[in-house]
Amino acid sequence: RLLIIDFGSQVTQLIARRLRELSVYCEIHPYQNVTDAFLTDFAPKAVILSGGPDSVTREGSPRAPQLVFEMGVPVLGICYGQQTMMTQLGGKVTSGHGTAEFGRAYVTPESKLPLLDGWFSADKEQVWMSHGDHVSEIAPGFAVYGTSPNAPYAITADVARNFYAVQFHPEVHHTPNGAKLYENFVRLAGFSGDWTMGAYREQAIAAIKEQVGDAHVICALSGGVDSSVAAALLHEAIGDQLTCVFVDHGLLRLNEAEEVVGMFRDHMNLKVIHADESELFLGELEGQSDPETKRKIIGKLFIDIFQKYANEIEGAEYLAQGTLYPDVIESVSFSGGPSVTIKSHHNVGGLPEKMGLKLVEPLRELFKDEVRALGVELGLPKSFIGRHPFPGPGLAIRCPGEITREKLEILRKADAVYIDQIRKHGLYDDIWQAFCAILPVRTVGVMGDGRTYDFACALRAVTSVDGMTADYYPFSHEFLGETATRIINEVQGINRVTYDITSKPPGTIEWE
Ligand code: XMP
Repeated sequence: RLLIIDFGSQVTQLIARRLRELSVYCEIHPYQNVTDAFLTDFAPKAVILSGGPDSVTREGSPRAPQLVFEMGVPVLGICYGQQTMMTQLGGKVTSGHGTAEFGRAYVTPESKLPLLDGWFSADKEQVWMSHGDHVSEIAPGFAVYGTSPNAPYAITADVARNFYAVQFHPEVHHTPNGAKLYENFVRLAGFSGDWTMGAYREQAIAAIKEQVGDAHVICALSGGVDSSVAAALLHEAIGDQLTCVFVDHGLLRLNEAEEVVGMFRDHMNLKVIHADESELFLGELEGQSDPETKRKIIGKLFIDIFQKYANEIEGAEYLAQGTLYPDVIESVSFSGGPSVTIKSHHNVGGLPEKMGLKLVEPLRELFKDEVRALGVELGLPKSFIGRHPFPGPGLAIRCPGEITREKLEILRKADAVYIDQIRKHGLYDDIWQAFCAILPVRTVGVMGDGRTYDFACALRAVTSVDGMTADYYPFSHEFLGETATRIINEVQGINRVTYDITSKPPGTIEWE
């Protein structure tokens, strides 16, 4: 197994992600915990030293145990990890004064290095830098293999000892060939790449058992991929010590409540409370048309209701959340600038403190696609795991303006036809998210020999990787025509269909 010593970089977890993609088992441990005894016990086959916010020139700044360099295993130092490595092995690091480099940079090669197999097919490689200090003198035994304008020692190595040190972050997306570097590193370290999601599952289950012990856990089950996989994993770990609450706010898609509750309660034997509170939610939303007001009403009610049901569950000590790694890092982007609230997202944040509960977040280390893989591993049907994301406020934000039961009913039917079309044409998995929105206008039409005056609906389908940016899906005109005809024929109340071709930005995916 591989050990990642964490010096506090925002992106350490991405290193683990790159390694998991290579089917290599790794663990991240904060530098404070990595003692000589720990190292001896862990017996890593290779070590990666992460980046971090400190400066190695500061008195008392973090170091790796010297033993790391004496175990005869390959070591890769990244950014701060590179600098502490150089310092510890006899090189020098200099601070400030024009040596900083943030963002995109280009590294040019000095000479060939197996770590860089697959690099430099062009004469330079794009990398992502984020450093104030830089190495000013390399340690004995090291040679230079790549330089950038502000980092003369961007890539150095002591090939004989299998020590590698890079100034940039190969784990981030903006170092396009970074994955290759990890692939080369684990190959050089002799990993065979046989670690699987099945193994992760065992490890996650053991971790949950250790954290929770005999205590009872409650979980807000939404039917979305994250909470579903979290619930399934917890159930496997602690069985009946888990109770799920499914809050039905009356803003779900056609048959959704039955499908979710049916699957988890009947098919998978979880304890699920079906909290049908649609009257309450729809009552409170009556007459409200402002998007933020609608979101706030739903968010607040959701918390109140969840709390009400949770209070009835005796001895609950933990609240389970399907927090993913991107949720953890979302607020700490590289640019780090202040961001404005575009939409107040609906989640159960703040609940644990309010309720005096401790948190269990078994998916905290994973990315969406890994969660899906874990879900399949846990026996959740592929069709369920592959479902498009569905927002917490549900159909409320797909019904711009005032929400009425009539509109919701029409929207559900139109959405079901649309999704059925997408599935029938085999497009579902190519699309990141697709749904109907019912527009707050009626338009005139003619059906048979009669005049109609009904609602218009908009179809939305986007491609995206993370929901942060998106583009509209390029359906064929045949598909759009056929779908419009089906919706108008099959859904009473709609007589006009439009297709939304706005990308994000400037649009958002949802209509509110
Ligand atoms: P937007 O509309 O902001 O949506 O482009 C991006 C992604 O987030 C989903 N979304 C939400 N998910 N609670 C959620 O759990 C919310 O309040 C919420 N609002 C939007 C949206 O469906 C899309 O996948």
